[in-house]
Amino acid sequence: MSKTIAILPGDGIGPEIVVEAVKVLERLQQTHGLAVELRHGLVGGSAIDACGTPLPDETMALAQASDAILLGAVGGHKWESLPIEQRPEKGLLGLRSGLGLFANLRPALLYPELVEASTLKPEVVSGLDIMIVRELTGGIYFGQPRGIRTLDNGERQGFNTLVYSESEIERIARVAFETARKRSRRLCSVDKANVLECTELWREVVTRVGRDYPDVELSHMYVDNAAMQLVRAPKQFDVIVTTNMFGDILSDCAAMLTGSIGMLASAALDADNKGMYEPIHGSAPDIAGQGIANPIATILSVAMLLRYSLAEDALAEQVEQAVRRVLAQGLRTADIHSPGTTRVSTTQMGDAIVAAL
Ligand code: IPM
Ligand code: MG
Repeated sequence: MSKTIAILPGDGIGPEIVVEAVKVLERLQQTHGLAVELRHGLVGGSAIDACGTPLPDETMALAQASDAILLGAVGGHKWESLPIEQRPEKGLLGLRSGLGLFANLRPALLYPELVEASTLKPEVVSGLDIMIVRELTGGIYFGQPRGIRTLDNGERQGFNTLVYSESEIERIARVAFETARKRSRRLCSVDKANVLECTELWREVVTRVGRDYPDVELSHMYVDNAAMQLVRAPKQFDVIVTTNMFGDILSDCAAMLTGSIGMLASAALDADNKGMYEPIHGSAPDIAGQGIANPIATILSVAMLLRYSLAEDALAEQVEQAVRRVLAQGLRTADIHSPGTTRVSTTQMGDAIVAAL
């Protein structure tokens, strides 16, 4: 039976990069026997414009009925003055939480061809291969109470709640240990246990879960140190597991080690490996519509989708190989361009990857 993939392009550069990823899926349908049905939906600002809400019921229903979701990016200046509850980002957060996609895998992998594109010295980043496992449906992103209130003295006060229950910590820890088992068996849990009780519990639960994985070497690091170590000596890390907000920040940091945030894919998985796949970069409204965005992160998200949700490991491998081949040919979008390479547009990059398939 054919599987269904929901395609949610979103805003900004989202539609441009998703078109290229869809070309890849269509090529796999035509010539590699991939049996999938692609169904498009609206999310984020484009959904606000068309339906008045960032996550229309139809989109939620489509996402629920699909085997996997491919998402571009959401957000843009146009919707920034809306109240937080109605912003494009709520569409994305609603999908993550509504679908129970608690485990976010964010690999940071440096392609040898791009070592010059990193702002760090080649010896610091060459061979870099890190996996950040970010908790995605809890923590301060979703904790209650939250809001902006007015105090008795008339001053306004903003507040959010950082909260994790033991079961939430335990399930993300297990994903992280299992992930480490398939890699170099080293896991670093990042917290702020010296200041925040919530992450004191995080450390305790991760340590407890670790007793079930004696073959994985577990270490703990405070988040400020982790940020420093990521730019000082990133290759000391294999798998990192951390909270929703720390993972948001550290994954952007890790992305830049690889030369461009335009290269990195991600998977958000539920307990049954149903997943939503998206580039970790945002909607980049400043460069939208110019044909200069890098579609590789989205195309590599297709590879993750094939691997994790469709169990099509061989096809995933072929997509990754195609990306490598095109980089080896010297083709580069603006963000990863360096002297001696050939600068290409979003569409040309997509076409080259399809051709390499
Ligand atoms: C990410 C993004 C999102 C987040 C935004 C767009 C809500 O920064 O996926 O990293 O903060 O999780
Ligand atoms: Mg982010």
